[in-house]
Amino acid sequence: MSAKSSGGADAHKRRAGERAAEEVEDGMVVGLGTGSTTAYAIEALGRAVADGLEIRGIATSFQSRRLALDVGIPLTDLDAVDGIDLAIDGADQVVDDPDSPAHRALIKGGGAAHAREKLVAAAADRFVVVADSSKLVPVLEAPVPVEVLPAAHTVVADRIEDLGGDPTLRMATHKDGPVVTDNGNLVLDCAFGSIDDPAALARDLSSIPAVLEHGLFVDFADTTYVGTDDGLEVRS
Ligand code: 5RP
Repeated sequence: MSAKSSGGADAHKRRAGERAAEEVEDGMVVGLGTGSTTAYAIEALGRAVADGLEIRGIATSFQSRRLALDVGIPLTDLDAVDGIDLAIDGADQVVDDPDSPAHRALIKGGGAAHAREKLVAAAADRFVVVADSSKLVPVLEAPVPVEVLPAAHTVVADRIEDLGGDPTLRMATHKDGPVVTDNGNLVLDCAFGSIDDPAALARDLSSIPAVLEHGLFVDFADTTYVGTDDGLEVRS
């Protein structure tokens, strides 16, 4: 994973990621999310570390760990710190409707890293979401990634159908096999159509045995930086 900017959505991602990195202060423990938008934040933090900023990062995935090491961010682990000051991460969809009870709810897990991402976000004093404007939606409707124990994927798929979902086992690109998460599990991408009550669906998914974690993040985001054609918008 590395960031590359060629205009359009990529430029929007860069704006959001680099702005979030400005929130990081000397001495902080920082959660490092996964994905192309967060990669811009990690690269900006690497430059700040080279200029003397002293931080410790906690990676949420193999990819974010590799990138953080590449750019020189010292890493630590969740069990070696008292807490996380700030976590920065991307999203696949973000509800942007102040009149909706689901305002700021997210779908994450496009990179199959949502279990560790949620763990880190939940442990952080502040969770900052970075996104390009294409991620903003009035209602969540993307398939929800659900990480499951391998032996349970068909059983869990049945339970998800009982909830009205349409699960698909995520397959690896260019490989004749499923995506395997950093935790050794599989991912079911579960289409539910429009998700009017993400909090209720989140509870239902969490109650299924052998579901390690799902990609609905409800009431997690403290601030959202959205890169646009005109600059940057802040949602808080
Ligand atoms: C990984 C994630 C990512 O944050 C999400 O998929 C957004 O990625 P990108 O910034 O590349 O659009 O949830 O599990």
